Amino acid sequence: MRKEVVLITGANGEIGHGLIEYLGETCGMQIVAIDVVPLDESIRKYCVRFVQGDILDGMLLGRLVAEYDIRTIYHLASILSTKAEYNPEAAHRVNVEGTLNLLRLANEQAQWQGQPVKFLYPSSIAAYGLPSLEVKNSAGKVKEQDFCNPTTMYGINKLYCEHLGRYYSNHYRQLAADRARNSLDFRAIRFPGLISAQTVPTGGTSDYGPEMLHAAAQGIPYACFVRPDARLPFMAMPDAVKALIELEAAPREKLSQLVYNVTSFSPSAAELREIVLGAFPGAEITFAPHAARQGIVDSWPADVDDSAARRDWGWKPDYDQERAFKEYLLPAIIQRYQK
Ligand code: SER
Repeated sequence: MRKEVVLITGANGEIGHGLIEYLGETCGMQIVAIDVVPLDESIRKYCVRFVQGDILDGMLLGRLVAEYDIRTIYHLASILSTKAEYNPEAAHRVNVEGTLNLLRLANEQAQWQGQPVKFLYPSSIAAYGLPSLEVKNSAGKVKEQDFCNPTTMYGINKLYCEHLGRYYSNHYRQLAADRARNSLDFRAIRFPGLISAQTVPTGGTSDYGPEMLHAAAQGIPYACFVRPDARLPFMAMPDAVKALIELEAAPREKLSQLVYNVTSFSPSAAELREIVLGAFPGAEITFAPHAARQGIVDSWPADVDDSAARRDWGWKPDYDQERAFKEYLLPAIIQRYQK
């Protein structure tokens, strides 16, 4: 008998840490994890198997398929928006070809198992592209179908992979006589910027939020790379994990779309600074805007409309801005750096 497992790519990343800990602690799931870098000891114990390798390595994925019944995939591996701009073609390979490999794997698994494989995909506010700051400031809560003209390679990759998910779910090999039905159950969440107490992101453009907080907690001066008035939606990591878990568990028939916005709070960089200074009064936080990175932030919405997620699968964040800092981020970060 082959073991039934959950496959998590990009396991050592920010969401990977939170998700693996949650699944391991509360669900006792059999987790097979992949990442290009070694998996942190703190989450290694929750995985039945860790494979250090690349999702572009077809042989590696082939070996996993031979060994396990993969029931659910959380495909978290990705090159984030800032890093992707330094090597767009390499980012495209990881973000698009990597996703294609996983979609194909999921489809093949579904054929073997005779039932759909669930494919959870974290998309992003980067899938949006607002044409100007004026439009951003007057757009209000942006809906899933609006302003889908991303300007970054990462955002374009995310938007396209959402479409690939739809294709593999509903139209794969639509002309084939032996066309398999319902082979893939693709579900995507467009995440806002995420802030975790445990990890600091690398290579993203919403990173100024978590960077500011983690720097202050360590007594390191921080020069914020966006203007004080820059505004993006954010969410605390426990809510991001909760969103993935709840969307995974939602009955298929309740889901009226494949891609959902979720969000919690939308502070400006100046407001973030005030909150951080409130907790660490001696912190040195200055502003040194980087024009190109600011341009990316200006093209992302200040807020998104997550009413479809609320209606279809009961989404509601546990942590609003006040609670996120007071009850999760600040206590956990203070404890972390006091160690
Ligand atoms: N946080 C990501 C980034 O900044 C967006 O999904 O690239």
